[in-house]
Amino acid sequence: MQKQVEYSDAIKTKYPEQVVIVIAKDKNGKVNPVTLGWTMIVSGNPPMMAIAVAKKHYSIEAISYSRCFTICYPSSEMADETLFFGSKSGRDTDKFAECKCNAQPAEKIDSVLLSDAVANFECLLDSQAEAGDHIIFIAKIVCSHMNTEPKKRLYTTAPGHKLGTAS
Ligand SMILES: Cc1cc2nc3c(=O)[nH]c(=O)nc-3n(C[C@H](O)[C@H](O)[C@H](O)COP(=O)(O)O)c2cc1C
Repeated sequence: MQKQVEYSDAIKTKYPEQVVIVIAKDKNGKVNPVTLGWTMIVSGNPPMMAIAVAKKHYSIEAISYSRCFTICYPSSEMADETLFFGSKSGRDTDKFAECKCNAQPAEKIDSVLLSDAVANFECLLDSQAEAGDHIIFIAKIVCSHMNTEPKKRLYTTAPGHKLGTAS
């Protein structure tokens, strides 16, 4: 049986929600990481993923300029930097420099990989669409990486950006 409720109540049932860190360089070459929950795989062949970024975020400028980005799956040990990247804006902060997380250059795009992440995907922007207050960026995966150590993925487990493992 179902009962009609407000969207704001029903959507609270979505947890756990996956978390990714998306990294794009801006026009000055500054590496700008941003934390996103709204992401999905949208094609298997070729492999493609989509991300939804709020129109007000600095990442819109960086992604629109560089037209490529990394999608990182943070590990359960990366909660602090995931919250940091998701609470400061690249408009007035050099998040990547301040965080001092382990990183390495991407292989096929002009971006970086997070060395301690569970996996990293190098993405080339394919297309974009407006969706209300967000822009959906759809990208082709041109190179994939995974950690040589077994790591658990980080998820949002409850409202208020509470992070943890899914099981
Ligand atoms: C766990 C978590 C999930 C988030 N998910 C999204 C998301 O899906 N889309 C989005 O636009 N912002 C999301 N945010 C908010 C942005 O990460 C945040 O506003 C960030 O400071 C924007 O940085 P920028 O201005 O450098 O782009 C999320 C934040 C956190 C902590």
